[in-house]
Amino acid sequence: MDRSAAPTVVVLGSVNMDLVTTTARRPAPGETVLGSGFATVPGGKGANQAVAAARSGARVRFLGATGDDAFGTTLRATLSGAGVDISLLRTVDGSSGVATIVVDESGENSIIVVAGANGRVTELTADELAAIAAADILLCQLEIPLATVAAAARHARAAHTIVALNPSPVRPLPAALWADVDLAIVNALESEHYSSDLDRIPHVVRTLGGDGARYRSAEGTEFAVPGRTVEVVDTTGAGDAFTGALVATWPTGPHPALTWANAAGALATTRLGASSSIPDRTRIEHALRAD
Ligand code: RIB
Repeated sequence: MDRSAAPTVVVLGSVNMDLVTTTARRPAPGETVLGSGFATVPGGKGANQAVAAARSGARVRFLGATGDDAFGTTLRATLSGAGVDISLLRTVDGSSGVATIVVDESGENSIIVVAGANGRVTELTADELAAIAAADILLCQLEIPLATVAAAARHARAAHTIVALNPSPVRPLPAALWADVDLAIVNALESEHYSSDLDRIPHVVRTLGGDGARYRSAEGTEFAVPGRTVEVVDTTGAGDAFTGALVATWPTGPHPALTWANAAGALATTRLGASSSIPDRTRIEHALRAD
């Protein structure tokens, strides 16, 4: 891959409408608390990462499905408005994916995802397989059926397309899928859950929340990038902002890519919502210039 050129990225994953409630503190089981605000914001780990990669300059194509409901129309418009190619994004009968999200005053969240149309991406079409084979990088998460993710990774590996996996949310994964992964991006919870699987992955990036991120290669290179000081409003989608930005800049090398992604993730915490908080190149460049 040309280190100076923006890569072509295919993101295969989920697209959800996020139903976001803000509250001083999240309720304990059985408890009712008063909220302070509500918003519907386009999200879904796949869509957020696609938007982040596009805003960081990659050419991005999104594979997945929305429902034929009003949410689906908005979700498609959001992706396309961010410059993501949605020509292969399917529309299926029924509801789009939704996520119920509660954000407390510290910016921490709890999320419940109902897959809806995302659960219907059970096999890949010839056009989708061709798009994966033609891409520089395939980026997947785990909010669509696992068998589809595994098939996409297998196909990408055979076509020499780099396979990047953000194994989120945590689910048991087949060893065959890990064998096709070149780059894994995990948070602390995922790092612990998948620790023995990660040992075999050529490139592993661990996000550390406010403490930055760490990289290690199978060849023994390791380094950390420090956390950035920001006013945290909402951490929702910060990991997606990081992941999309990382993949978009991956050809520049692990250290420049982590530095860029670390700034993108930090900036994403300063605004409410997932896709709505993802910074573009100008904001990221500005933040890095201020260092
Ligand atoms: O990572 C944040 C995302 O997780 C939200 O946008 C929500 O839709 C869930 O997919």
